[in-house]
Amino acid sequence: MTPRHTILLTGGLGYIGSHTAVALVEAGYRAVILDDLSNSERSVFDAICQICGDEHLEFIEGDVTDAACLKTVFEAHDFFGVIHFAAKKSVAESEADPLSYLHTNLSGLVELLRAMDTAGVYNLVFSSSATVYGDQEVFPIPETATRHAVNTYGYTKVASEEMLERVGTADDRWSFGVLRYFNPIGAHGSGLIGENPKGIPANLLPYIDRVATGELPELVVYGDDYDTPDGTGVRDYIHVMDLAEGHVQSLDAIDATGQGHVVNIGTGQGYSVLEVIKAYEAVSDIEIPFRIAPRRAGDVAVYCADASLARDVLGFQAKRDLFEMCRTNWAWTQKMAEAKTA
Ligand code: WQD
Repeated sequence: MTPRHTILLTGGLGYIGSHTAVALVEAGYRAVILDDLSNSERSVFDAICQICGDEHLEFIEGDVTDAACLKTVFEAHDFFGVIHFAAKKSVAESEADPLSYLHTNLSGLVELLRAMDTAGVYNLVFSSSATVYGDQEVFPIPETATRHAVNTYGYTKVASEEMLERVGTADDRWSFGVLRYFNPIGAHGSGLIGENPKGIPANLLPYIDRVATGELPELVVYGDDYDTPDGTGVRDYIHVMDLAEGHVQSLDAIDATGQGHVVNIGTGQGYSVLEVIKAYEAVSDIEIPFRIAPRRAGDVAVYCADASLARDVLGFQAKRDLFEMCRTNWAWTQKMAEAKTA
């Protein structure tokens, strides 16, 4: 089958990028993955090929801030568009080392745009984040909410979106699909790819995974005194495959209309930390011990998406529920544990 189009995925061996590569190939696209392996493993490419075959997949090791590398990649391919995942994404790390975040996240985007412009490729889907909203008063959060960064990571996402707005205003050949993620969790149903952060996980589900395997003794719940039904933080968790399919729909919309968009990619349904623990215990049949600790700096009580615009503009609708998110997280965790002992 001849692929509909060839797409460059920068950072395509990461958690969301790898799942998007699978969704793209399954939708009839060819995916060329550029990744510098700074926060991913080469073996992820083999796993993606195991899931959907290697006929329409290619891997290139390279850094998105390297103009010479990008020039070579664009000269060797006829891309319809690019999905840009390659960026640093830790809030805490961004505060400790802001310069590396400005370099990778902002210089990287500028070099990518310059390489695309030189090659005459003007379709870009950009991996943004709900972090651009900072602290909000109105929930669920609509795309019209004001953006304001409350940390350096969030600043790089706001600045990136503003850069795209400026470039798009100056040259109408550009079409940008800006996707604001909420809380992606879960894993591909095969158990062959999933989230695998290095060191002690900062995010909730990878941390619960480590408690479920016994690597960590208990979960620390950051605060039970928020203004929420059970006092713990509420987030809009979305299955990573729903999110991946949303990227395909963003490309499809650009292909069909030539128009860009800025949309939340969430479910519109929030769950608290305690509700997530209960769902994970139900699907894994494992008790997750936890203790309550003070709130974590920078956390907000509630982060939930108004997901109606993505439905109207892209036809996006999340299909997988919290139990499927936790079930696939646990299945992936079990496969990783088996691989470690093999
Ligand atoms: C979720 C909830 C915590 C860990 C982060 C980034 C954001 C985005 C998604 C990139 C909160 C609680 C967590 C733990 C806990 N990434 N929690 N114990 O903070 O909503 O968002 O990931 O775009 O930019 O900030 O996700 O999974 O860290 O926290 O109680 O050990 O779980 O307080 O209520 P968060 P998270």
